[in-house]
Parts: sequence; structure tokens; C-alpha cells
Amino acid sequence: MSVPTHDAPRAPFAFSPFASIRFARIVTAAALFAAFTAGALAPVPALAKTPPPKAVFDASAVAAPDRYSADAAQQIFAAGGNAVDAAVAIAFTLAVTRPDAGNLGGGGFMTLFVDGKPYFLDYRERAPQQATRDMYLDDKGNVVPGMSVVGHRAVAVPGTVDGMWQAQQRFGKLKWKQVLAPAIRYATDGFQVEPWLQQRRETVAKTFAGKTNFDAYFSGLKAGTTYRQPELAQTLARMAGDGGREFYEGRTADLIAQQMYGHGLLTKADLQQYKAVWRQPLAATWNGYQVLTAPPPSSGGVGLIQMLKMKADLKQAFDGLELNSAPYIHLIAQIEDRVFADRQQYLGDPDSYKVPVDKLLDDAYLTQRAAEIQADQVPGATPVKPGLGDAAAEKAQTTHFSVVDKWGNAVSNTTTLDGEFGSGVVVDGAGFLLNDAMDDFVTKPAAPTQAGGSQSSANGGELNTVLPGRRPLSSMTPTILLKDNKVSLVIGTPGGSRILTSTFQVMTDLYDFNMAPADALAAMRFHHQLLPQKTIYFEPYHPIAGELGEQLQTMGYTLEGQSFSGDVQMIRIDGTMPEPAADPRGNGVGRVIR
Ligand code: DON
Repeated sequence: MSVPTHDAPRAPFAFSPFASIRFARIVTAAALFAAFTAGALAPVPALAKTPPPKAVFDASAVAAPDRYSADAAQQIFAAGGNAVDAAVAIAFTLAVTRPDAGNLGGGGFMTLFVDGKPYFLDYRERAPQQATRDMYLDDKGNVVPGMSVVGHRAVAVPGTVDGMWQAQQRFGKLKWKQVLAPAIRYATDGFQVEPWLQQRRETVAKTFAGKTNFDAYFSGLKAGTTYRQPELAQTLARMAGDGGREFYEGRTADLIAQQMYGHGLLTKADLQQYKAVWRQPLAATWNGYQVLTAPPPSSGGVGLIQMLKMKADLKQAFDGLELNSAPYIHLIAQIEDRVFADRQQYLGDPDSYKVPVDKLLDDAYLTQRAAEIQADQVPGATPVKPGLGDAAAEKAQTTHFSVVDKWGNAVSNTTTLDGEFGSGVVVDGAGFLLNDAMDDFVTKPAAPTQAGGSQSSANGGELNTVLPGRRPLSSMTPTILLKDNKVSLVIGTPGGSRILTSTFQVMTDLYDFNMAPADALAAMRFHHQLLPQKTIYFEPYHPIAGELGEQLQTMGYTLEGQSFSGDVQMIRIDGTMPEPAADPRGNGVGRVIR
């Protein structure tokens, strides 16, 4: 095993019997890296396959969750790359600089608009072939605490690398190895650890201790040090040389299978079979825009469109209501009840069940659902049921970025390890973390899934139980808005079930309240879903307090703090100049790139 290195003095490194092996690996990774980049800080060389088309915007732009990934995007644009090249470079950079959420061992969704056409790439994780419906239950039928969250059995087949490979092969202009170069550089040369990342590591370290090899790799994430990941650099360099399928069929696949052997269910055959899937994005007309968003296995796109349309249907009821006033929050909460009731009943992996998307997004259906909402409704008094008839606490980390290029292409991408630092299992010899996406399935089938009173990030009912090869339901909602077939907004966020409600709120702040992008991101956000029935969650960034809090309590709501309401990264284009904006709650960077 070769652990990452950092500048702070570490005795074990100096005396370890593995030091020379480790050194050799560092040298190999560095040499490989140098071959690709011709020097540690050299810009990515321009090797564009075709000349760029005519610009439609004044500049390219990025809203990314850290400065390293924004720098990577800038380099890629400087080398002649397009939004897809930049997106793939960002994703791989985040796998290095954001080990809590960026990943090789996770999955995600990408909504794209390229050369005037919409696309959606589903690179969600899948259950291994040996997975079973009751795999998280003990012999009494109770869920074994933590099993779907920590350690080998929490791991689903990762999709990120095939997703990035397919997106870049299909639409990129640069060579694959060029878009990997910035990530290889950060893994080889290191990046500066900031206090929040150290803090995040410390939060999970206790949970992982004794159950995973997390500490062997990540105990060095200390604020102020330069953190190097030589094994990860080697893995990235191998993929840069051999292509994305190396992860699923080559040495990396062997290392993953070895790591899982005897502990987890994932096998090399699962990896070989994994392919990201191109799907039709959901498309809806709203407020003069075309909304392109995530179809199932996300629940997010359906939920977002339902919320936007129900709110538009309730125009009269909302007329004159102040943003985030108690009566405003009360109407939104009722909209959210209906969205989460439908999600619970009807959403799942479209490859194992025909999700009734058309019915759920039917205008007449949504108008009828909106008509049930009343200003004087007592919270929780009339239980909200799924609308088509028969048929809490959020973990913190996933990450989102938005990119546009001056040629009018856009990428909205959300990617996840599920929980912070995923399952805590690191692939020995390959240096990256594996996800705990299995926890997005229903772990106790046929039980009231919100027994604890909360619906987690994906949750759902029978349609989201564990089945071999099935994708767990997700909330990730990477979204693009078009106006006259041109990109007008690129938006998304992490946050589990908060993804739906936060994306919705920022969009309504932007369009219904005409806020500037930075103001829309800074505005208060709250969260409510079907269960717990009367709870409105508020955020530390902008707590619900004072008179507003009292009014909501008088109405019958319970107020509860939540730690995370998302980290929205968005770009608005109103005219020809992109306006990127990063959520002030996080560490993101919005940058215009000329
Ligand atoms: O796919 C999902 O919905 C979850 N795995 C996302 C988790 C998440 O956003 C946690 N982040 N803050």
C-alpha cells in the first residue's frame, strides 16, 4: 500500500519498509505525468481535433466547487477544449482535490447541450450481481446498522470513469490524456488542504476507524499541508494512457476486485459489464424557458418540474406574497408534500420498471394537484397521498459543477460518493475511495421506509429495493434552461433530497423574483418534504428565527435545523455574457474565461 504524502513531517514515511516502493511509485507517476504535460506546471498542449465553430457567447465560464477544478477548466479552455473537455477535466480534478465527494469510485449524472442538441448521461452506480433484496437485514429482519453506509458491502459498481470516458469520446475536442493532465498534476504535486476538508475528514474518521482502510490513506489531510496522492496519480496516468475502460477491464479493475474480494460483493465481472447510459433528458416548458433536466433513475428532474409547474399554477395564491414569508413557505411546503409523495410511490430505475414520467409531468395532473393546495390548510391535517392512484438528516457530500463554452455548449454535472468520503474503503494500490451508493436503495423492504420520520436522499418504496444490476434512485438534478434554443441557465447542487428543493428555490428566486445570480444564491433556503409531516428545516447560513419562526410555529410547523442546504453552482446567460455564481455556503469559484 502506498499512502498519500504531505509536507508536514511524518516519521512513518521516513522509516517505513515500504518507503522505497513508495518512492519508486512517486517517481513513476511523476515521470508518466511529465510525459503527458511536459512539465509540472506547463499548460495543457493544444491538440484540438477540429477547428472550433463560431462563438455565440462572449466568453466561456465555469462555476466549480473548488479553485483547483476551476483552474483545470481554464487550462482546458486555453488549450482549445470545449465545455465537455472542461467538464471531464473538472470531474477528474475533483477526484483528487475533493476526496470527500469528487470521485473515481462513485457515480453521477450529466445534462449536456452540445451543438444545439440536448443529451443526458446516466453514470449512476449499479448494484453488484450478487446483491440481494435483503442483504442489509439480520436474521430477525432488522437492518444491520451502518452496513449500507460503511465498508465493503456498501459499495455499488462505480460509474464515473465510464461516464467521463463516454462524454469526452463523444463530444470532446481535445485528446483524452489532455483532460486528465490537470488531475494527474494535482495528485502528483499535491494541493493545499484547507481547514474545512480536514474537518470533514475528522467527522468521518471515527465512523470508518477499524472498519475500513480510510485512515491509512487520508489521515494526512491536514489544513495547511500539501497533500500528494502518488497511487492515485498512477491510476489516473494508467487511464490516461489506456483509456477509460482501463478502470473496468485493466489493472485498476483488478485492484478494485482484489480490494472487494472476501468482503464485498462487487466483482471484476460487475466492472466489465458496467456501461454508462445515454438517455433522453426530461424536457418541459416553463416560464418561457425549456427546462432540460435529469430523468429517472433520478427523482430530481421529475420533482423539479412538478414544483415549478405547480407553483406557476398557483400564481394567484402566490401573488403579493413576500419571498420566504410564512404564508409563502406554507404554500411551498404543500407543493413539496405532493412531490415527495409521488417520488415515494412511483420513481425507480427505468431499466427495471416503467416509471410513469409522462403522467407525473402531465399539465392537467399537476394543475389538479396544485388545486389541492390551500393557504389555510393545517400542516399535517390531511395526509398527502401519491397522486396517480395505485401504481433528516442528509449526509453532506456530493458535488456539482456547471460549465458553458463560448460556442454555446453547456454541461451541468452532479457527481457523488453518496456520503462524505463514500464507504471509507480505499482501493489499495489505486488510491481512491469507493462509494456507499447502496445506501440509496431501500434497505428494509416492505417496511414503512420513513419509520424514522425522514425520507433520505433517494429512498422510495418497492421500486427502489436492491436488485442485481439495478440503479438506486437518486435526487441529483443537473439542469439546463434554454431560451430560444440557447443556453440560459446551468444549475445544480449536492444535498440529497435538498437538491430538489434548493434547485427549485434558487430558480424561483431568479425568475419569479428577478434576483441577480449572487443574490439568488445568498437568499434563505428551507426544506420540507412529505415526512416528517410538519417539519420545516432551516439552514445555519440563513436561519429561520424571530417573527418568521413564531409565525410558522403558530401555523403548526415544527422548525428544525439542518446542516446542509446545498452548494449550488450555476451560470446564467441573459444576453451573450455568462454570469457564473458559486454558492456562498461553500468554497466554489465562479469564473468567466475569455
Ligand atoms: O444520488 C443521490 O441522491 C445521493 N447519493 C446524493 C447524496 C448527496 O447529495 C449528499 N450530499 N450532499
